[in-house]
Amino acid sequence: MLDHDGMSLREWHELMDAMEEVGPYYERVNSLITMGMVDRWRRRAASIVGPEDVVLEIGSGPGNFLKHLKAGTVMALEPSSELSAYAAKLLGRDRVGFLRGVGEKIPLADQTVDKVFCVFSFRDFFDRKASIGEMRRVLKEGGEAIILDMAKPPPGPMAKMIDLHVRHMVPPLARIAAPAAAKERWTRDPYSKLLETYEAFGSVDVYEKALRAGGFEGVATEYLELRGATMTRGKKPWKSTS
Ligand SMILES: C[S@@+](CC[C@H](N)C(=O)[O-])C[C@H]1O[C@@H](n2cnc3c(N)ncnc32)[C@H](O)[C@@H]1O
Repeated sequence: MLDHDGMSLREWHELMDAMEEVGPYYERVNSLITMGMVDRWRRRAASIVGPEDVVLEIGSGPGNFLKHLKAGTVMALEPSSELSAYAAKLLGRDRVGFLRGVGEKIPLADQTVDKVFCVFSFRDFFDRKASIGEMRRVLKEGGEAIILDMAKPPPGPMAKMIDLHVRHMVPPLARIAAPAAAKERWTRDPYSKLLETYEAFGSVDVYEKALRAGGFEGVATEYLELRGATMTRGKKPWKSTS
């Protein structure tokens, strides 16, 4: 089972293995498959952060979004210590508080965070409903959850174009960008695993619905440059009961 709501733990562990395999050349592939846009999308998301904000990124991986955050307090939640080690090397351990764990069980107290980001990570979570509940729990009232991912518009010509790119362009481009030594180790192309999550996750309206169902309000989606990625945002209501 790999669908809008999540995946089995076995599938999730396979995905984590694939993510750790591509870690060292992850950003090279991202740059190539997005025609250099990936960091511009991340910068746009980072630009909504204020200097006083307490920010949490869930699924921070090798640190490619963290490096853009200028907030006073930045925390990074990541299940893979291997990927967090890359991030710590990139950023230094004093700038970011690294937490080990999953979005489904955030190791933070209630109402302690102003903004929670999931940047190219939400579709990797095994239980998305639980992770939305956890985001709401750790956010302060009026705080925001932000989900950024490759665009998946509702069915139509745009969706078809992006789908064609993802299915037919991404796998060969990923093979070009991966180092030869890594390819020799592959028993299966790890990008095929990562693409399965793209195919299984819902279009943006599914994310919006899930955030609303999880108690977020003002939920809206912005298409980022070249419409290749989306940023869906929702606020935790004031005077919330949790
Ligand atoms: C595609 S990477 C994104 C990395 C980074 N945020 C970026 O901007 O490129 C997805 C990350 O989500 C992490 N991840 C997967 N499942 C997770 C979960 N259940 N909870 C938290 N993080 C998870 C993976 O380990 C991986 O580092």
